[in-house]
Amino acid sequence: MAGQEGGLTGPDLAAGVAASDLAPGAKLLGHAFGDPVLLARVGDDYLAIGATCSHYGGPLAEGALDGDTVRCPWHHACFSLRNGEALRAPALSPVPCYRVERRGDQVVVAGKEERDALAPTWPAPLPSRDAPRRIVIVGAGAAGSAAAEMLRRCGFGGSVTVVDTEERSPYDRPNLSKDYLAGNAPPEWIPLRPDGFYAEHGITLVRARVARLDVSKKSLELEGHPALSYDALLLATGAEPIHLGLPGEDDPRVHYLRSLADSDGIIAAAREAKRAVVVGASFIGLEVAASLRTRGLSVDVVAPETLPLERILGKELGTFIKSLHEEKGVVFHLGRKPARIDKTAVALDDGTSLDADLVVIGVGVRPRLALAEQAGLAMERGVTVDEFLRTSAPDVYAAGDIARWPDPHTGQRTRVEHWVVAQRMGQTAARNMLGAKERFDFVPFFWSAHYDVSINYVGHAEQWDRVVVDGDASQRDVSVRFEQAGRTLALATIFRDDESLRVEMEMERAIRR
Ligand SMILES: Cc1cc2nc3c(=O)[nH]c(=O)nc-3n(C[C@H](O)[C@H](O)[C@H](O)COP(=O)(O)OP(=O)(O)OC[C@H]3O[C@@H](n4cnc5c(N)ncnc54)[C@H](O)[C@@H]3O)c2cc1C
Ligand code: FES
Repeated sequence: MAGQEGGLTGPDLAAGVAASDLAPGAKLLGHAFGDPVLLARVGDDYLAIGATCSHYGGPLAEGALDGDTVRCPWHHACFSLRNGEALRAPALSPVPCYRVERRGDQVVVAGKEERDALAPTWPAPLPSRDAPRRIVIVGAGAAGSAAAEMLRRCGFGGSVTVVDTEERSPYDRPNLSKDYLAGNAPPEWIPLRPDGFYAEHGITLVRARVARLDVSKKSLELEGHPALSYDALLLATGAEPIHLGLPGEDDPRVHYLRSLADSDGIIAAAREAKRAVVVGASFIGLEVAASLRTRGLSVDVVAPETLPLERILGKELGTFIKSLHEEKGVVFHLGRKPARIDKTAVALDDGTSLDADLVVIGVGVRPRLALAEQAGLAMERGVTVDEFLRTSAPDVYAAGDIARWPDPHTGQRTRVEHWVVAQRMGQTAARNMLGAKERFDFVPFFWSAHYDVSINYVGHAEQWDRVVVDGDASQRDVSVRFEQAGRTLALATIFRDDESLRVEMEMERAIRR
């Protein structure tokens, strides 16, 4: 029975479909036992997994098949079609996997396989014989939390200790400026895992600040907590907002946004406030502007550039983003800087005064490098790591916003501030601690959301000599390709998920040739 009932679409795969309906490399969305199921043909194999991405519920049937894997169209997670394993972040949990039987000329989804989220099913034969026994991770953000989980997914049986200053980490940091701040995501969506999850999987979370790292003794000093020794260490301390040091910046109406506590502080202030000034037209600044408009506040954005995000997304998308925010009522003060923050207003460098009972400063971040610097690790505007994410100290790895790695796609050492990159770095570092020797060669990916528009970006381009625009940003159907000497360095898209995935896969193939 084909059907739409209960939100299910396509054929009932438990009742069977004709094998000839699926050519090799084809996929079909259907349902089985009340759930959406993706059936795919890989060579002569028919494989079935849950059709809903375990990250934010993206439709895997609209994603891209790549061998025996499928990539999610929304934020490029990747799942094994053979066992449902989440092979690439941002998805951390597998999707269900189904038994498929051939009955005559019919292919039938015969039953669901049950398993634990961190069941050790990772394909590499890990851990190796000389794997460490005690692994410590500093930072329970994107990289640190993904690394800790990956150690268990690889079957690592030693101790895993994650140290973080924050009480509530790890949580979904990208959401803090988007749906959570806008009031569209309830608090229970924000933790990456439910209460008790880490303890259940033998991952110890220590709430303390790591004050000192001694790489010769392989030990860490913690504030208010006994020292920790390690056999292998991952540094994943992330980044912190840049402070402008303006007169009046220490006023309680002034906020920065990095942590869940910061986002909660802005939400509490927004309940009382009517007029907000956002300083900085960065991704975070503009996402905050969108969220505060959604809450009904008037929003002024002050920034020194003439077009928001032009340096990263080019003129076409910069113009679109600006007009999108203006349509929603945001007032820009471009080419301007704040001079000081007064009791009820923000004074600009041209003498303009903007009334404000809430001020959010989003002018960029800087990596938190103090620990790595104090330990004497090699640095280069970030912590220098090799292709296996090893730092200059034995058995010390670094990942996420602090790590500058040799990016094979650009041929340059690169450091980015992207959620998915940080998670994947954490996962690669974890496997390498266990002896995998995997190069970190993922194509960088990030997304940014403004109202109902999401921008996806694959690759990395700091400079380009040609921009190829296809489509129309104002129609929310566009791709912008950034090229250097005829090579695609990056692609930004709005509602062109197929193209974004295709270019990502082309970039991967280009370095594996
Ligand atoms: C509001 C917001 C929205 C964002 N949106 C997006 C987005 O849409 N897309 C995207 O790609 N990226 C986004 N990012 C960026 C993304 O969140 C970061 O790139 C990512 O979190 C970096 O991961 P990380 O593990 O390196 O650091 P973090 O996630 O910042 O984690 C670092 C952790 O280390 C802890 N720590 C630091 N120093 C110490 C110490 N000495 N001792 C103990 N603990 C310590 C911190 O408390 C923190 O919990 C956003 C960032 C913010 C703040
Ligand atoms: S919804 Fe699938 S990767 Fe985000």
